[in-house]
Amino acid sequence: MPDPLLSVTGLSVVYDTPRGPVTAVDSVGLTLEAGEFTAVVGESGCGKSTLMYAVAGLLDPPARVAAGQVRLHGQDLLTLGRRELDALRWRDFSVVLQSAMNALNPVTTLAAQYRDAMAAHGTYTKDEIRARSTEVLALVGIDPVHLGSYPHQLSGGMRQRAMIAMALLLTPDLVIMDEPTSALDVVAQRSLMVQIKELQQLLGFAVVFVTHDMSLVSHFSDQLLVMYAGQIVEQGPTRTVFDHPAHPYSRGLLEAFPSVRGPRVPLRGIPGSPPDLASPPPGCRFTPRCPLAHDACHHTAPDLYEAGAARSRCLLHLTEAAR
Ligand SMILES: Nc1ncnc2c1ncn2[C@@H]1O[C@H](COP(=O)(O)OP(=O)(O)O)[C@@H](O)[C@H]1O
Ligand SMILES: [Mg+2]
Repeated sequence: MPDPLLSVTGLSVVYDTPRGPVTAVDSVGLTLEAGEFTAVVGESGCGKSTLMYAVAGLLDPPARVAAGQVRLHGQDLLTLGRRELDALRWRDFSVVLQSAMNALNPVTTLAAQYRDAMAAHGTYTKDEIRARSTEVLALVGIDPVHLGSYPHQLSGGMRQRAMIAMALLLTPDLVIMDEPTSALDVVAQRSLMVQIKELQQLLGFAVVFVTHDMSLVSHFSDQLLVMYAGQIVEQGPTRTVFDHPAHPYSRGLLEAFPSVRGPRVPLRGIPGSPPDLASPPPGCRFTPRCPLAHDACHHTAPDLYEAGAARSRCLLHLTEAAR
């Protein structure tokens, strides 16, 4: 069996805080094959960004990887030094964050930023850099005159697309996107989403796409990973999870973000908010908010159990799996 493109196993990330260690990512595993689109969903504060930063080697103190492996093409990224990782970033995988304003340098033109990104990874002539920069901008539908623009001269949507173009400069196999559309209005979000999907199909790279809005990815991702309180609570094919969400939290998320195309239903969502990860509730972490909680949930921490084509961290599926 060839190595998968990306394989994350038993990954835990801790923030060392004055109040003690906070485990923001708790034994997370995921596998991504070449060209696959995986979405990571969950409310704010559930550890999605921390997970992505850990995978991309971008964590800074007080965050540290406490356990686990991140393998890209079989190579463990967590054992690499910063320089070795810098050599892989942009070339083998790239990262697009929520706000391109934070990632793009405000005082240099797009042309200069694209040039620097390429020059850091190889020897390219001026003409080659110009040609490739023009090409990636065209891919995201931006007129190449904007190579001379500064980030603040572009609209929010254009900045995100310029960032995505930069992420594609060196044709990586994997693009990690952490809420790349969240700063945009709903219409701009959908159109950027469609564009990302078209690029992914055209160029064949794999995507890990993080969003707090589950409905955004329903038509775009192959696999879905639902995170709650630092843990994966459901994992499975996107269609399966949307049609038959196994975990009560997934069901709640679906109700909180009904499909834009679906019938209008009252927003029920999920009462309350995710727990403070400095002191998560004992047993199942979703118990305090769960409409289906029973006695055992208060003291028994569930594993991820088989639940049809998906896996679910819910005691209801323990009994099912044992049958
Ligand atoms: N700089 C930090 N210091 C301490 N704890 C942090 C810090 N950043 C995040 N956390 C903890 O990690 C949790 C997950 O944060 P994050 O990964 O940003 O979640 P998400 O991207 O799902 O909103 C937070 O709820 C918080 O407990
Ligand atoms: Mg986040």
